[in-house]
Formats: sequence, structure tokens, C-alpha cells
Amino acid sequence: MSIHLQKERVSPVVVEDWEKLAKEVLPKGAYDYVNSGSGGEETLAKNVEEFKKWDLVPRVLVNVEKRNLSIELLNRKLAAPILLAPVGFQTVVHPDGELASARAAAGQSIPFITSTVSSYSLEEISGVMGNTPRYFQLYWPNDDEVASSFVKRAEASGYGAIVVTVDTPLLGWREKDLQNKYFPMMTGAGIANFVSDPVFNQKFNANGTLNKEAVIGEIRKILFKQNLTWEKLAWLRKQTSLPILLKGIMHKDDALQAIANGIDGIVVSNHGGRQLDGVRSSLRALESIADVVNKRIAVLFDGGIRRGPDVLKALALGADGVLLGRPYVYGLAQGEVGVTSVLTNLLDDLDNSLANVGKNSITSINKSIIEKHS
Ligand code: FNR
Repeated sequence: MSIHLQKERVSPVVVEDWEKLAKEVLPKGAYDYVNSGSGGEETLAKNVEEFKKWDLVPRVLVNVEKRNLSIELLNRKLAAPILLAPVGFQTVVHPDGELASARAAAGQSIPFITSTVSSYSLEEISGVMGNTPRYFQLYWPNDDEVASSFVKRAEASGYGAIVVTVDTPLLGWREKDLQNKYFPMMTGAGIANFVSDPVFNQKFNANGTLNKEAVIGEIRKILFKQNLTWEKLAWLRKQTSLPILLKGIMHKDDALQAIANGIDGIVVSNHGGRQLDGVRSSLRALESIADVVNKRIAVLFDGGIRRGPDVLKALALGADGVLLGRPYVYGLAQGEVGVTSVLTNLLDDLDNSLANVGKNSITSINKSIIEKHS
């Protein structure tokens, strides 16, 4: 299969075809790293399957001539209810990595969430995005001074929020990566935020003089913080004036605790089925969480979004917006053009689906358009 530039649309159109193309061009280790989930991949499969348990219920004879995909999130207007999820190590997929994805996102006015383990620095990524909003995802390093430095750098370089990933005290049991003996950082990807950080360099990198292997060894020692607890969030609040979101909430009581701790938003997510296997699908978790939150803070969602109707279903069950993960990374295997294509197809599909469900604005989506079948 090959990509084909048409006048108005880059094919393939079908998202699964971008996945096939990625499989053709990527080394097995890199492809499996992106594609796989943890354990027996129960949760990975459930994330996609759960969408099929819900039916959309369209209404007819509604004037849908003028449609509005925009939403407001964290006091900013966004072009659509879609953001690009934080995905680390993107140079294992394409040499342009996060720069290509962020450019493609900005080209469609779609926010990009920069991962802690990016292959380009957070400043370089911010630099290609113009006025389009970007957030910084924090894997809270096991060194508070490095954590603080990352957050302050993000604020100084134009990021609009800090997204703390809270479902990763350590990497999930990823059988395919273990089998392949594949950890992307060992290829030198994903270290840019560390090697460009003055605090990291001063404390762990002999002022920037260690060789790459030794640096990677030091990063691995502090990459995750297994004793991170709710109490630490007050400390983070003092490091930044940016809104703070927690990514990886799967229980309504954790959502309530986030509110009690002054958090500005959550991402209902099981990390795309890459952390604890056997966890329920994120769509299944969404409704009860959105109900208890009751619009008090922002509720974002990810896991299994592949097409426009999936976005409508997640919004109907209470999400304010959704994050797209693997699909854009499959597009990235062909560079920026691939990410742009995946995004424009999803946006056009969403616009089409909105009209066909009988609504003319994303903000008017509610439970009336959805029904669970047995
Ligand atoms: C991820 N995800 C992720 N999440 C995060 O908080 N920080 C990260 O660095 C990464 N890295 C990462 C790499 C790859 C290859 C994938 C596929 C995913 C999880 C990601 O943000 C998101 O939660 C899921 O990808 C959403 O599920 P879908 O859209 O892939 O089904």
C-alpha cells in the first residue's frame, strides 16, 4: 500500500489503513511498541469494543446547514473537541517525530500535548505551534527539582496546562516489548527534555558531560515516582500558575478527590490499555465519572477514539473533549502529511456525523443522542 496525494484529501482515508502502512515501514520493535497494550491486551481490545455497545440515535428535519465544532476548554476556545494525546519517543516512528505531529496539529488548530519523554525538547515543540494551544504532560520524575524545572520551562515557553499522568507509577507489563527486548529510550529517543534541562544536567549529568548511555541510565533511575500521592499536588500547585489536569483517572472517587484537591481537569484514561491490563474500558468508566464531576472541572477522555461517531459518543457520555492516540502515530510513520491526513479525515468525519445525528453544534451534544443496547 502507498500514500496517494489527491487534490483535496490524502488517502488512505480509512484509519486502519494508516496502521497497515505503519506496519509496513516500521521495524517490528517500534511498531509493536506503538500498537501493543499491556498483558494479554484485554483492555486494549475493550477500549475499542465498548464503543459498539452504544448506538447513536439521530433526529431528523433539524437545520444543520451551519455547524460549529468549537468548544471552550480551560478558558480558551478550541476549534474542535479533539486534542493530540501525549505520546513519547516519536522519533522511533519518524525522524521528525513530535515536530511533525505538533506542526500537523497546529495546521488544523488542534492542541498538542507534549510528552515528558519526547525526542525533541518541549521548547522546540512549542516553537512550531504558533498560537495553537499546547499542554505539557508530566511524568513526575523521582526528583522534585527536576519536576519543578520541567513545569517552569513549560510555563515559560507558552504551554497552557500541565497534564500529570497518574496511572504510571512504573511502566505496565508490556509483553511484546519485553519479548522484543525493546525499550525506545535505549535507541536514544525520548531524552530531549532531560538533556536540555539545567537542573537535570547539574544533578545527574555531570553538567552535560556524561555519554549518552550513562545519561539514559540516569534518566531511567528517576523517570517515575512510585511514592507520588495526593498530598504532593499542593506542592505542584506552588510551582506553576498553569491549570493542572490529572491523566489516568478511572474511578469516580478519584475524580472527586481531584476536585477536592483543587485540580482543574481530568483525563478519563487507561493509557490506551498500556498500563494495568484487565481494567475496564475508558468509555465504560466515563459516564459515572462525568456524572459525579457534574461540570465542576474539565473532563477529557481517551482510549479507542478512531472515527467521528466515537467522538460523539464520548461527548454524549459527558466528556468535554477527547484525546487521539495511536491513529495519529500511525499517520506519523509517513511524516507530517500522514498526521495531517488522519486529523483532517477525523475532523471532517466528526462534522459529517454531527449533521447526520441532527445537531449543529458540539456544545449541544448530550445523552439524548445515545442509547446503550443489550
Ligand atoms: C502513549 N501514551 C502516553 N501517555 C502519557 O501520558 N505519556 C506518554 O508519554 C505516553 N506515551 C505513549 C506512547 C504510545 C506509543 C502510545 C500508543 C500511547 C498514552 C496516550 O496518551 C493515550 O492515553 C492513549 O494512546 C489513548 O488511547 P488510543 O487513542 O491510542 O486508543
